[in-house]
Amino acid sequence: MKQFINVNDIGDIRAAVAEALEVKANRFAYKHLGENKTLLMIFFNSSLRTRLSTQKAAMNLGMNVIVLDVNQGAWKLETERGVIMDGDKPEHLLEAIPVMGCYCDVIGVRSFARFENKADDYEERILNQFIRYSGRPVFAMETATVHPLQSFADLITIEEHKTKARPKVVLTWAPHPRALPQAVPNSFAQWMNAADYELVITHPHGYELNPAFTGNAPIVYDQDEALRGADFVYAKNWSAYADPNYGKILCTDRSWTITTEKMALTDNAYFMHCLPVRRNMIVSDDVIESPRSLVIPEAANREISAEVVIKRILESL
Ligand code: CP
Repeated sequence: MKQFINVNDIGDIRAAVAEALEVKANRFAYKHLGENKTLLMIFFNSSLRTRLSTQKAAMNLGMNVIVLDVNQGAWKLETERGVIMDGDKPEHLLEAIPVMGCYCDVIGVRSFARFENKADDYEERILNQFIRYSGRPVFAMETATVHPLQSFADLITIEEHKTKARPKVVLTWAPHPRALPQAVPNSFAQWMNAADYELVITHPHGYELNPAFTGNAPIVYDQDEALRGADFVYAKNWSAYADPNYGKILCTDRSWTITTEKMALTDNAYFMHCLPVRRNMIVSDDVIESPRSLVIPEAANREISAEVVIKRILESL
């Protein structure tokens, strides 16, 4: 595998889950693969889980790891070509990327949507420059539009807990004080469709996601109706995708918060969220602390999804 951005990059999704469970049972079995190999993790944005789980995965595989926080300690980077660089950014990404590629064998990139220009975000301008100019395999650690390591971990977690071959999985919008990207719900929808689960999406009007990710999943604007019979409830906030409101907050209705009363509408569903989560905005304390909450197992499986991805990249070097 030379890159990991979308669900297609992982190939047969059932085989990927089987491999993940095998890796989880013996996570140091492939330590030889990473000997004398270096992973460079580049963060344009903050992280707790992605940083720790991906580094742990690489260490399980015997790799050396370098972490660069672009906005803390590195030169500020200009990303636009043609700019007269007389401002506060002394280095251009087009030099920085090949230089970074000199010091490593594999690159992970975290670069969120900037909400300055929808086309730039959805064309993945930053990520694609790494793919084009680094000379190294690149994997996404949450980009402007996708978060595949999270979705792969979510899929593993559902496979570990489901009691039906085709569970009903509800992706629900929930309120948040800041405008958040669509990366997590985009990827989650894409991976749930690939897994052929019964995916239902619920959100207020105006929060429709890019159909390239949601496919044929039904949108139910009544959250209570969507939650009925759910086996898994995946809560997430996102900002508007559709023009002219791209990146905007359209709704702050707290009746969308996932509470015990909302979970009572489901078929004793598990609660899921990628974290970090704003308690009592996205989900109530009692739901996230309940025995049906999977937020910690999801986070634990981030180590496993990252290990499978890096393992496959190492096997292809
Ligand atoms: N879920 C997730 O990616 O967490 P971080 O932003 O902390 O990495």
